Amino acid sequence: MDFVETKRRSNVSRKLLLAAGITALFLFMLTKSPSTTASIKFSRHEPGVTHVLVTGGAGYIGSHAVLRLLKDSYRVTIVDNLSRGNMGAVKILQQLYPEPGRLQFIYADLGDASAVNRIFSQNAFDAVIHFAAVAYVGESTAEPLRYYHNITSNTLIIVKAMAAHGVKKLIYSSTCATYGEPEKMPITEDTPQVPINPYGKAKKMSEDIIFDLSKTSSDMAVMILRYFNVIGSDPEGRLGEAPRPELREQGRISGACFDAARGIIPGLKVRGTDYKTPDGTCVRDYIDVTDLIDAHVKALAHAKPGKVGIYNVGTGKGSSVKEFVEACKKATGVNIKVDYLSRRPGDYAEVYSDPSKIRSELNWTARYTNLEESLSIAWRWQKAHINGYNN
Ligand SMILES: NC(=O)c1ccc[n+]([C@@H]2O[C@H](COP(=O)([O-])OP(=O)(O)OC[C@H]3O[C@@H](n4cnc5c(N)ncnc54)[C@H](O)[C@@H]3O)[C@@H](O)[C@H]2O)c1
Ligand SMILES: *[C@@H]1O[C@H](CO)[C@@H](O)[C@H](O)[C@H]1NC(C)=O
Ligand SMILES: *[C@@H]1O[C@H](CO)[C@@H](O)[C@H](O)[C@H]1NC(C)=O
Ligand SMILES: *[C@@H]1O[C@H](CO)[C@@H](O)[C@H](O)[C@H]1NC(C)=O
Ligand SMILES: *[C@@H]1O[C@H](CO)[C@@H](O)[C@H](O)[C@H]1NC(C)=O
Repeated sequence: MDFVETKRRSNVSRKLLLAAGITALFLFMLTKSPSTTASIKFSRHEPGVTHVLVTGGAGYIGSHAVLRLLKDSYRVTIVDNLSRGNMGAVKILQQLYPEPGRLQFIYADLGDASAVNRIFSQNAFDAVIHFAAVAYVGESTAEPLRYYHNITSNTLIIVKAMAAHGVKKLIYSSTCATYGEPEKMPITEDTPQVPINPYGKAKKMSEDIIFDLSKTSSDMAVMILRYFNVIGSDPEGRLGEAPRPELREQGRISGACFDAARGIIPGLKVRGTDYKTPDGTCVRDYIDVTDLIDAHVKALAHAKPGKVGIYNVGTGKGSSVKEFVEACKKATGVNIKVDYLSRRPGDYAEVYSDPSKIRSELNWTARYTNLEESLSIAWRWQKAHINGYNN
């Protein structure tokens, strides 16, 4: 009898001890563990703090945007499945902003609607900047479904999740490719959109989805930014452009130019010297990524409920491929070998923006308008990161 009593008592006190231990451990984790504290911060709206979901934040433009948002005291959640982005870029951002509640990275596929919905229910977003996409014109012609799926269908998933969870502010990455080949230059926001490749069409369809949704939801605040050709990288050299090696050949001119300067490829192939342009080569409007991101931050600040703002983001000045190559030679100090070949089908002669709308409405202007300077900054990063983020 006595024995049983003692045993029972010791059993009860042991349980009490265990319960106290668990509680203490929990409280300890709550105050000490960054992940616990952080996930609580990310899951609640906080007055004075704007929490932005950045899709594609591990990519070239997205990572630069995250850097700026963190610098400007935003709270940021990156969602990216690293299909094209770099975990190395995310790690650098995490090292720069390690404080709890600043930056969180969620590995997920935006094509997975239930994963996206879970992310929206576990986090309190104030705004979304939707960068994630596949973004190569040539690839889009060869694999159109990849583009409609990963651009249009994924945008639909995002905006549905926003509607379902009451997130009202959206900044959308669109492109001058939605205009196709307009007859009149420069391109204004009223230039008819007649895209000529699946990339441009998929982006145009995404814009349409967003428009139509915003018409039914009077408190949605939307900004659609149509970028021209993006170049450059962080002037402080923390981030750069590092596409997957297999995407190199799809590549954009700046990547090809750096690869040629490094000797990874034998030289540059310029396709078409008989266009109706001053020197016969194609003319494009190159916008520095730092300026582009500044436009996003201004768009975020100016987004108004019940409105859809549409803005071209370019410098307003066209540069020819020949001029670009010359600037690249100077920036890299390498006398890159250039082969001039016949035209490539599907290229348009001349594309440049009229940026007066964004200037007057958002007080935005491009500052990095010197190609050689933008390319020098990017080259510094490229030279220091021969293997991209895997150095
Ligand atoms: N680079 C340009 O010149 C340019 C010009 C006009 C518009 N844009 C647009 O800007 C945006 C960003 O382009 P970028 O050059 O930074 O491209 P990028 O490939 O470097 O970045 C895209 C990111 O999105 C991620 N992503 C793609 N599909 C995903 C999915 N299903 N789930 C989760 N993550 C996914 C990729 O992993 C990558 O990190 C795109 O929407 C692109 O269409 C780019
Ligand atoms: C605790 O008490 C239960 C009965 O309430 C008994 O079955 C069990 O063996 C006891 N456990 C210990 C560790 O004393
Ligand atoms: C990323 O998402 C795409 C769908 O958009 C999917 O096809 C691909 O397999 C995913 N990649 C990874 C590494 O999860
Ligand atoms: C895009 O979509 C296609 C299916 O249409 C898929 O096979 C592919 O892996 C997707 N993801 C990427 C990053 O292209
Ligand atoms: C516009 O931007 C410039 C440069 O950033 C700034 O000096 C000026 O005060 C801004 N004007 C308005 C009306 O906000």
